[in-house]
Amino acid sequence: MTDTNSLEHISAEGAVYYLFGATGDLARRKLFPALFSLYKEGKLSEHFAVVGLARRPRTNEQFRSDLYDSINEFCRYKVDDLELWERFSQHFEYMSLDINNVDGFRELNALSTELDKKFDIPGNRLFYLALAPALFGPVSFNLRDGGMLESSGWNRLVIEKPFGYDLPSAQKLNEQLNQVFKEEEIFRIDHYLGKEMVQNIEVIRFANAFFEPLWNNKHIANVQITLSETVGVEERGGYYDKSGALRDMGQNHMLQMLTMIAMEPPSRLHGEDIRDEKVKVLRSLRGYGDSEEVRSHVVRGQYSEGNAGGKQLPGYREEDSVDENSTTETYFAAKVFVDNFRWAGVPFYIRTGKRLPVKTTEVVVEFKGMPNNVLFANRHDLAPNLLVIRVNPMEGIYIKVNAKKPGGDNEVQPVSMEFCQSCMIGINTPEAYERLIHDASRGDSTYFTRWDEVSHAWSFVDRIAKAWKEDSSDLQHYAAGSWGPEAANELLDKEGFHWWPVNGQEEDNVIWITNSRK
Ligand code: BG6
Repeated sequence: MTDTNSLEHISAEGAVYYLFGATGDLARRKLFPALFSLYKEGKLSEHFAVVGLARRPRTNEQFRSDLYDSINEFCRYKVDDLELWERFSQHFEYMSLDINNVDGFRELNALSTELDKKFDIPGNRLFYLALAPALFGPVSFNLRDGGMLESSGWNRLVIEKPFGYDLPSAQKLNEQLNQVFKEEEIFRIDHYLGKEMVQNIEVIRFANAFFEPLWNNKHIANVQITLSETVGVEERGGYYDKSGALRDMGQNHMLQMLTMIAMEPPSRLHGEDIRDEKVKVLRSLRGYGDSEEVRSHVVRGQYSEGNAGGKQLPGYREEDSVDENSTTETYFAAKVFVDNFRWAGVPFYIRTGKRLPVKTTEVVVEFKGMPNNVLFANRHDLAPNLLVIRVNPMEGIYIKVNAKKPGGDNEVQPVSMEFCQSCMIGINTPEAYERLIHDASRGDSTYFTRWDEVSHAWSFVDRIAKAWKEDSSDLQHYAAGSWGPEAANELLDKEGFHWWPVNGQEEDNVIWITNSRK
C-alpha cells in the first residue's frame, strides 16, 4: 500500500538473511515457513542465502531437516515438489555462534563473502534478530566490530518485540542500536501490521466514498477493538509474568490498530507519510492524569481456574514459571480518547485477554443512531449501523443495516451483510511474516514501527503501568473460558453502550447475508 507498491510483486533484492535464534520457536513456526512461501511464489529470487545462527552445534543437514519439518508442519504450502525443495534448501547454511564473541562474527563475515559469490548476491545483508531484546545491543556491536557491516550492499536490522519494557528501557535500547544502525535501517516488527486485514483498514477507509465522509465524531458513536485469545500463557510464563497483557498486546498491536482506524488520510501512500499520521494519533491520545483516572478508564483482570469446552483449565498463578502471588494482568480493557478534531468525544474501547472463549481479532465501528422522533426511529428500537472488520482468524468485513422485514407491516429488520474473505475458494492469504520479510527485503518500512511511534506508545502505557504498580487492589479475577471481568462491561454501560458480539455471533433477530457457508 505504498508508492513503492508497484514493487509488490517484484522479487526481493538479492541478500543474505541472517537468522539469529535459528533453533527457536519463531524461526520454526513463522520464519522458515514464510521464506518457503516467498520462494514458492517467486518473491525471493535465486540470489539469496539464509544463515541460521544459534549457539548449539548443528550440521547443515540437520538444519535443513529442521527446516523441512517446520515447513511441513506450519507452512501454508507443503513440500510437494522435491526438485523445488532441493533448490530451496541449498540456500540454507547453519553456523554455531557465540554472540558474545566477536571472532565468530569475523568467521561469519568470511562465510558471507563465499555466499555472496556462490549465489551472486551484491553484498546486501538482512539481520533478523529472533532473540531476547537484551541481546539486540550486544549483537549489533559485534556485527559492527566483526566487520559484518562493511560489505558493498545495504544492511538492515529486523527486530522482534518487545522493544523495551517501558519508555526509559526502550530509549536505552534505541540508543544502543543507533550507535550501529540508522533509523531507516531498523525494521521493528509488529506482526499485526503484516496481517492482511489490518492493511485492508486503509483500503476500506480510503477507497470507499461511503465510509470516509462519516469517519468522525459527528457520525461515529464508538469504536471497539477486541483481541481475544483462548490460549493461556503456555510455555512463556517467565516472560509473560514480567510483561502482562498491557505490555504484551496493548503497547504494540492494539495501539497500532487504533492508529490505523483513527489516522488522517496521508497525503501520499508513502511509508513515511503513513507513519507520520499514525504518530499524530499517538500524540493525541489522552494520557490519564492520575491513578484514579487510570482506574476509572482501565480494567485489568487475571484468569483463575475455569472450564472451556468441557476441559478444566488451570488458573494463571498455577502456570509454569508464574509467581504464585502474581498480580500480572492477563486481561485489560480500556476506554481511550483521541483528542483531536476528528475524534473528540468518541470512546475507543479496547480489550484483550488470554483464556477468553474465542480467538478473534475484530474492530467494530458503531455509528450514531438516527435522530429520535423521526419516522421509523420513534416507532422502533433501531439498532445502530455497524461496520465490522474481522482480522483474525476469519478475515472479512460486514456491515449491519436496518431494512424492512420482508412481508411485515413496516417492521424493521437488522441485516448483516458480510464479505467473508477467508471463505473464498482459492484464497490462501499470505502470513504476516511473509509480507514483513518481503517488505524488509525491499526496504519498505511502512508496516514496521518507527521509533517515535514506539516511544509515544510507551508514554501512554507507562502511565497506566505506574498507577497499577502503586496498588493492585483493582485487579479482578475471571474464570478461564469466560469473557473477563464484569467491570469491562460497566466501562461501556456508563455511556449506554455494550460490547458487540464478536466472531459473527450476532443476536438472533439479525438476517445474515454472507458468502460464508455457515
Ligand atoms: C504476540 C504476543 O505478540 O501476539 C502473544 O506476545 C500473543 O502473547 C500473540 O499470543 C497473538 O498473535 P496472533 O497473531 O495469534 O493474534
